[in-house]
Amino acid sequence: MSDLSALEASILNDIAAASDEAALEAVRVAALGKKGSVSAELAKLGAMSPDERKSYGAAVNTVRDRIAAALADRKAKLGDAALDAKLAAEAADVTLPLRPSALEAGRIHPVSQVTEEIAAIFADLGFSVAEGPDIEDDEHNFTALNFPVGHPAREMHDTFFLAPGANGERKVLRTHTSPVQIRTMRTKTPPHRVIIPGRTYRNDSDQTHTPMFHQVEGLVIDRGAHIGQLKWTLIEFLKAFFEVPEVEMRMRPSFFPFTEPSIEVDIRCDRSGPEIRIGEGKDWMEILGCGMVHPNVLRNCGLDPDEWQGFAWGMGIDRLAMLKYGMPDLRAFFDADVRWIEHYGFRPLDLPTLIGGLSS
Ligand code: DAH
Repeated sequence: MSDLSALEASILNDIAAASDEAALEAVRVAALGKKGSVSAELAKLGAMSPDERKSYGAAVNTVRDRIAAALADRKAKLGDAALDAKLAAEAADVTLPLRPSALEAGRIHPVSQVTEEIAAIFADLGFSVAEGPDIEDDEHNFTALNFPVGHPAREMHDTFFLAPGANGERKVLRTHTSPVQIRTMRTKTPPHRVIIPGRTYRNDSDQTHTPMFHQVEGLVIDRGAHIGQLKWTLIEFLKAFFEVPEVEMRMRPSFFPFTEPSIEVDIRCDRSGPEIRIGEGKDWMEILGCGMVHPNVLRNCGLDPDEWQGFAWGMGIDRLAMLKYGMPDLRAFFDADVRWIEHYGFRPLDLPTLIGGLSS
């Protein structure tokens, strides 16, 4: 084999072996570049006789053309392969189902949802929302609400006390939302129509009690507010909340230091089936405490009981949620078990409104 044929064979071999476009370019430069091996053969022509030059020149040119053709061919193949690989890597299977958005994956806790439902109902009746601190002083949680110092009603609340401060005062985790009644009456001018949702704390734990739970308080203060308005307000609320056309209510005398008279409210329900049905049946279920605001409480807030009267009520939000949505164990509310929230939770954009439906 002549040197020229050996050179051609070796270059064609390198071309075939080039695995990508950069390697192929290196082969091209090594062969056909200014200092390439084929160019070196052409440079030899200057030293040859005219006859030799003619035949050797033709031979080198043929080799150069075949190499150029082989380079072009290999380059096209490598380009196709690179494109194929890119297309394969970036392929999108348009038949796959859509990934659920983060909005679909999240869930609203039933306590938050039910609080929103309650706020929506009372907003429609002209109530605004008031709030107060979870860590309360004895004055707001008890004294101003007409719990006399040393009165056993303070014991009934299973209070969590904090360590005494520098002045010896022991703060408490509020045992009910009623202290915000005091805060509202002392800082705003009457008339008042507020609801007060929030966290409350008592040292108690079983299937229907947790150390932290949620209450919503209602307070109306106005000239001539009376018990008939209280009854109407509660019935309208219960019908809207349980989404039933009628709710039958029973008012029983009770005792709370901050109301006179004090009343416990039961609603008619049916416990004969697997789940409790509200508004029908032969059974009664206690649902809330209420009453007319005690004159001492009004006086403690600087209001003259001969001019201003009021009514108030308090109920457990968690308990209302359990009843409405059939959740049997209160403790599960606060276990942070993602399976529970996926089952009982609400979709983020299903905001409860009276027009759109509370729970639909
Ligand atoms: N604060 C009471 C409790 O936690 C509930 C309550 C009863 C609130 C009667 C009221 C009311 O506003 O009038 O047991």
